Amino acid sequence: MERKTYLGVSPSELDPEVRGDPIAGDRYYCRDWAKKEFDTAFVRSWHIGGMLHDLESAGDFITHTLGKESILMVRQQDGTVKAFYNVCQHRGNLLVMSPMGGLQKFTCSYHSWQYAIDGTLTAVPDAEDYLQGNPCGKVTLAEIRCDVWGGMVWFCMDEKAKPVREWLGPIAEQLEAYQLPKMKRTIYMRVEVNCNWKIIRDNFNEAYHLPTLHPELKTAIDDLYTDTVFEMYPNEHNRMVMKGCMPSGRYAFDAVPEAPLDGLLQFWELNPDDYRGKYNEIRLAIARQRRKLGESKGYWTFKYLDDSQIVDFYHYTLFPNTTFTIGPDGMQVLRSEPHPSGDPEKCIFDHWFIAPEIIGREDIDGPAGSAKWEIADLKYGKHGDFSLGFVADQDLSICVGQQKGLRSRGFKGGYLAYQEKRVQRFHEILNDYVNGVC
Ligand code: FES
Ligand SMILES: [Fe+2]
Repeated sequence: MERKTYLGVSPSELDPEVRGDPIAGDRYYCRDWAKKEFDTAFVRSWHIGGMLHDLESAGDFITHTLGKESILMVRQQDGTVKAFYNVCQHRGNLLVMSPMGGLQKFTCSYHSWQYAIDGTLTAVPDAEDYLQGNPCGKVTLAEIRCDVWGGMVWFCMDEKAKPVREWLGPIAEQLEAYQLPKMKRTIYMRVEVNCNWKIIRDNFNEAYHLPTLHPELKTAIDDLYTDTVFEMYPNEHNRMVMKGCMPSGRYAFDAVPEAPLDGLLQFWELNPDDYRGKYNEIRLAIARQRRKLGESKGYWTFKYLDDSQIVDFYHYTLFPNTTFTIGPDGMQVLRSEPHPSGDPEKCIFDHWFIAPEIIGREDIDGPAGSAKWEIADLKYGKHGDFSLGFVADQDLSICVGQQKGLRSRGFKGGYLAYQEKRVQRFHEILNDYVNGVC
């Protein structure tokens, strides 16, 4: 199976030099640094505000809190989506309090200024009392960039930003094969975590932790770094490709395949006994069977995927704070955001799963087990209130301890393996934003 790289980009461009900037502990707890990160990297990047499937009709809206900002996204009469800072222009009250809904007018809860869905102010009480003249027709909500890609609504606070598809670069083209716009968000979880957002980001920028934090994955994913593809794109984002449907190359397996590979083989009408000691053949055998039987078993997206996408796991990290982990069953969105309070030792973690229908079935397989293929309601809480799925639980299990350790005078700064290069590059790009170099 030959993996594609982005056309026109040579392999050496996908492994750029890093400078070796120190990664000291203070960037994980310093308020001044956190403010600079937000005002540069976060303001200038695109962010996912929600799912387009939640905005069916004109007036349907979603809100999203990113750090200190709340963003309102509204479906327009012409079918497009507009995004605004969710703030009343009278005296700054938050305009819309709910995470989603449908309204033809947005009325501020303080003095009842009223805005149309396109952000224009249409009614104010005592309009004749404004010496500057009636604000209706003059004042509008503060609009920001908004775009739709991959069935998701994106916003950006930088009016000079490229369109989102261009900002995604090669990632857009690679992901479009999966048919994201036809999927539903079946997991929609959001929790507050007592750690800096970058602790979670660093975790998703390396796979070195897999044998320690996720020992169960060794029978189904090849996490050996020499078998893994790491690509760092010129546009700040990166991807990692791990072979799926086979065990880790770190271990010698010579018995009959263990769970979940045994069940997977049976589901795809192969006999696990035939693969005793032949673990490396399982991935190709499953790829062949998925090609042959996928359509008849309801897996309609497989025909759009290449041979690697049909069995392997692709992990995309979008600078600064979002990871997509995608396989043939669907895509996880794993995102960490600065906390709205501005406390750099807290963050918000999102875990979504976006999945295609399996035709003829009501259920799908996801990171929290089997679930119905239906749009999930938001589940919001504090880290530990409920499970985020066992792998995400394992990832977040280190956060609080690492936050404490990074505060220690005894921590001398990161000492990274080469396979953690994406962590190093991430911090260097962040430094460039904060220092005004890019
Ligand atoms: S602050 Fe919104 S109407 Fe006064
Ligand atoms: Fe992990």
